[in-house]
Order: sequence, then C-alpha cells, then structure tokens
Amino acid sequence: MGQQKIVVLDFGGQYNELIARRIRQCHVYSEVLPYNTNIKTLQDADILGIVFTGGPNSVYKQESPHISKDIFKLKKPILGICYGAQLIAYELNGMVETAPVSEYGRIEISKKNDSKLLKGISENTEVFMSHTDFVSRLPEGFIVTSSSKNCPIASFENDNLNIYATQFHPEVSHTVEGQKIIENFVYNIVKAKPTWKPESFVKTKIQEIKEKVNDGTVLLGLSGGVDSSVTAALLSKAIGKKLYCVFVDHGLLRKNEAEEVEKAFKEYDLNFIKVDASKLFLNRLSGVTDPEQKRKIVGSTFLEVFEKEAKKLGEIDYFAQGTIYPDRIESGLGVSATIKSHHNVGGLPKKMNFKGLIEPLDNLFKDEVRALGKELGLPADLINRQPFPGPGLSIRIIGEVTEEKVKIVQDADYIFREEIKNAQLDTTISQYFAALSNLKSVGVMGDSRTYEYAIVLRAVITDNFMTCKAYHFDEGLMTKIADRIVNEVKGVNRVLYDFTSKPPATIELE
Ligand code: XMP
Repeated sequence: MGQQKIVVLDFGGQYNELIARRIRQCHVYSEVLPYNTNIKTLQDADILGIVFTGGPNSVYKQESPHISKDIFKLKKPILGICYGAQLIAYELNGMVETAPVSEYGRIEISKKNDSKLLKGISENTEVFMSHTDFVSRLPEGFIVTSSSKNCPIASFENDNLNIYATQFHPEVSHTVEGQKIIENFVYNIVKAKPTWKPESFVKTKIQEIKEKVNDGTVLLGLSGGVDSSVTAALLSKAIGKKLYCVFVDHGLLRKNEAEEVEKAFKEYDLNFIKVDASKLFLNRLSGVTDPEQKRKIVGSTFLEVFEKEAKKLGEIDYFAQGTIYPDRIESGLGVSATIKSHHNVGGLPKKMNFKGLIEPLDNLFKDEVRALGKELGLPADLINRQPFPGPGLSIRIIGEVTEEKVKIVQDADYIFREEIKNAQLDTTISQYFAALSNLKSVGVMGDSRTYEYAIVLRAVITDNFMTCKAYHFDEGLMTKIADRIVNEVKGVNRVLYDFTSKPPATIELE
C-alpha cells in the first residue's frame, strides 16, 4: 500500500493548491492532478477521495473541461467546489445557468436542511464567492444545504452517493468556517486518518537523493531564503561535500542582504560560492517594463550564471533548486491560468549542461518546508525568514529597473523593516516590504516644490501566501515610518499604504 491521499482535480481555478494545502493541514496527504487524469489512475485504492476545483469556464460549453461520468461509479467521496459543484450538477442532469449579476467577495449564507458537509457550522456564516454561473436545478436525489441572497443553491449534497458540493470556496481564508468544512469532508466523509507528517519525508528524501546522485556532484542555486536553505541542508546531509552551493548576488537583493547571507552560510561546513553578477542582471533588465518579461530575464540570467560557475568547477552532474509546490502550481504548469511565472520553474533548459534536475521539496508547501528545516536543525531566524521572490526587487519596482530605483527601494525597505522589528511585529506580519511605484508626484520640502517618487508599503497576514489580508498598522507607527522614509530616502516625497487583500490584488505589485 502506498501513500493514502485525497486527489484534487484541477479544472483551472486559482485556489487549487490551497485546497490541497487545507487537506494537508488535516495531516492527510493531498496532491493536485489535471482534470483529465485517467479513470484507471483514480481507481487506485490509495486515493480515498476526490475534489473537483473551481475554474473560469462554463460547464455547459462543449470546449470547457469535463469529466467522464465513470468517475461517479468509483463510489469514492467527491467534493465539488464552484465550477466543480456546477460540473456535478450538470453531469448528473441538473441545470446550470448564467446569473444576471456575478457574486464576488464575502457573502453570507444560511444553512438549509441537515448537512454532513456543513455539520457544526453556524446557521449563518460568511463565505467567499466568485462566480457568474450558478446551479439553477439540482440533480435528482440531491438536497440544498445552504443559500445566499443571490444564490439559492449555495451548497448541495447527496449522502447516499457520497457527493458534496459548494458554490463558494471553503479553501479561501475569507470563508470564516472553511477549514471546518474541509475537515468534515476529510474526516467524516472520506474518513481519512491524520497520518501525514512532512518530517517523515527527511529519511526517504535523503535516501532518494543518495541513490540518484550516486558518486556525482550537485550545484545548488542558493538564495539564502527558506526553501533553498532547507534544500541545502537536505542535500548536504545526503551527499556532503559533493554539493556546491552557489549564491548569486543579482544586485536586486534587499539592503545588506548579500553580506548577511554570506556570513550565515560561511558558518556551515559547506562549499559556499558567492558570485557578484549585479552588473550583468541590470544590463539585461535595462529598458524592460513588462513584469513577466523581467521574471523571464532574471530566470534565464540566473541559469546562465550557474552554468558558467559549473564550468569553472569542472564536472558537475546535477543542478538543484529549492522549488516548492506552490511555485509549480502558480506558474501554471497545471490547467490554471498563469498569474505569475516563478523564476525557478520550467524544468532544465535543454541547452544546460547538466545530467538532470534535483528539486527535493517540489511537493511541499511553505510551512511543511519550515517544519523540515526545524527537523534538520536550521536556526529559527533562517526558518522564519519572510519570503523574498527570486526576481528580487525587479518585481518591486514598477516599470523599468535602474540602479537609482533599486537604491531608493532598498533604503525605504530597510527603514520599514527596521521599524517593524523595533515594534516587535516581525513575527506577526507574514510578509512586508517597500516597493517603488512608477508614480512621480508634486510635493513640498522646505520652501521648494519637489517632483519625486511615491513608495508603496505592503504588509500582509497570511498562512499560505495564496490569499492574504493587509495588516492594519497603528496610526502613530505608520506616520513615523512615512516621515522617516520621506526624510531619509533621497528621491521620495510620498508614501502610500496598500490596503488590498489577495484576491483581488496579489502580494507583490508586479
Ligand atoms: P503574489 O505576488 O503572487 O506572491 O501574491 C505570492 C508569494 O510568492 C512570491 N512571489 C515570487 N516568488 N518568484 C518567486 O520566487 C516570483 O516570480 C514571485 N512572484 C511572487 C511573493 O513574494 C509572495 O510570497
């Protein structure tokens, strides 16, 4: 018997990995598979339950993703979410129509009838909706289990068939009792046992790496962030000095970061190599304004630098990087629309001279990676570092990246971080940074008119980085931060605070 799991079938929604994440939070393994996964694969006895995700299409259109009706004959518990709920209704001869108005955001639902999925949930509760189509008639044998003002069938189920559906998104944190709904599905409906512990991964992974690398050597792209540091620790445990950790300073790091990373890693018994490639990156980015283009340029320049370093080192067999599960899914390797392509995803370009790629964390979520780091004995301040994107400040500068703009954003960010640390908020806020808007506006300093940049500050609370809420600062602290930035950072005369949640915004500005 292999790893027992609940499979999430991807119909193109943005929150698909979050569904898997929520299931794993119940200590039950879950992974995302494409919607057209073969029925034979889904028959596997290790697959205990199936979730159909949301998606941007309309089920009644021929070209939209559909499923084989045989899936219902597997008799495995099924949960359909949003498009997935509509798909269940449509395939089982209910009716799905377009509503005159879309429902979007936080909506209140009221429970109806007795529901196994909504057991223990408040009679009226807030959920996250994002849809235009809706189920207008239930398939035979199903009952409605909740309604909202504009959506009479907000959830429905058929206990005998073990099929459950919600028009809303229980996986999104805006759904107040969402985790409880997922738990009801996982424990009471699927009846899965909470046995998934990422820590047990360490032993199997080390063995796997040893077998794959054998007598060979590995070059790891190390950024000093949580993911690549945990990858370094894991690889080092498996292959010792056959590992070379290459840290590239692309000139788009936070203030003093290159020196800090170097200092931290020099303390370990690792082959640590620092490469200053800042000029090369800035040259390549010159004149480029499109965010995706910037990501691609940074990604390909990274690979070029790594390859050059590998050549210097002689024979290197494998290239390793700290790709994690959300990187793969958010980059659109599945069915979902690509919102942002993460730089370290996309496989090994053919022209690269390595035998293969090693990404030991590619099935893990961030907090699982942190748990692994703890297990591997990494220091807490490294494990708890806030995430920093691979393309660095290039995606925190709207529009063209120049040396002057990098300096402005570094200085403003430094002040913001310093004040957050002084206020002891650094462990409360999940991610916080300064970004440079491309906006120049009029100000007055002394007796003179200024025409300078506006800094945008962003601070968010999230446990998964797929959704987030903006942090609400105390007015005094916010004023102090704004005053310090305008007074201390040359080229800035205005400070703006970004209050938007994700969705509809994203965490980074580009
Ligand atoms: P968004 O902006 O998509 O960010 O809401 C979600 C999380 O991902 C990080 N992020 C990136 N990380 N390469 C990375 O390695 C990227 O291109 C990238 N874009 C966003 C972001 O910092 C946040 O933690």
